[in-house]
Amino acid sequence: MVREVKKAVRIPIAVKIAPTFTAFAHFAGQLDAAGADGLVLFTRFHRVDLDVVELEVLRTVEVSTHADLSLRLRGLAALTGRIKASLAAAGGVQTALDVVKATMAGAHVTQLVSALERNGARHLGIVKRDLETWMAEYEWSSLEEMRGNMGLSRVPDPAAYERAHFRMAHR
Ligand SMILES: Cc1cc2nc3c(=O)[nH]c(=O)nc-3n(C[C@H](O)[C@H](O)[C@H](O)COP(=O)(O)O)c2cc1C
Repeated sequence: MVREVKKAVRIPIAVKIAPTFTAFAHFAGQLDAAGADGLVLFTRFHRVDLDVVELEVLRTVEVSTHADLSLRLRGLAALTGRIKASLAAAGGVQTALDVVKATMAGAHVTQLVSALERNGARHLGIVKRDLETWMAEYEWSSLEEMRGNMGLSRVPDPAAYERAHFRMAHR
């Protein structure tokens, strides 16, 4: 589909993907090879619940929390430096520190929706100001400088990103 769309249009295309592929990084590589200009990590599914009295399926879109960021950090860290497409973090970004984390994991872009729904559009200005303050305090001159520096292939303990660590965390 990406190959066909790329043939048909001249604008850059970004593909928003789900976190549920078995070989997610391999699939992302295939999208990259097919010409996707950007990958957005990750789509959020509607939550499904059951009303067991009325026998109805209930679909809701809930605003995200900070906890949703973790899956994005892991996905970004796996891809950064390995594909040509730009990477966007979408899901769980609430604060300037979340922007720093997403960027260090490899994001070129961070998207906020829930945080703006919760706090209003003025929150964007607060995130920007806090980001500038944080970067000055820790002597980062640009987002480019920190982008991907916490990627899977660049951290001293890449296994910390791996699933195996889940077992270790529960020992
Ligand atoms: C009420 C609501 C409606 C949304 N509708 C869409 C949509 O139609 N298409 C889409 O790709 N993403 C949709 N999203 C997801 C956002 O584009 C975005 O990826 C996600 O909300 C970013 O995460 P955040 O809410 O944690 O900032 C929606 C999100 C919310 C909260």
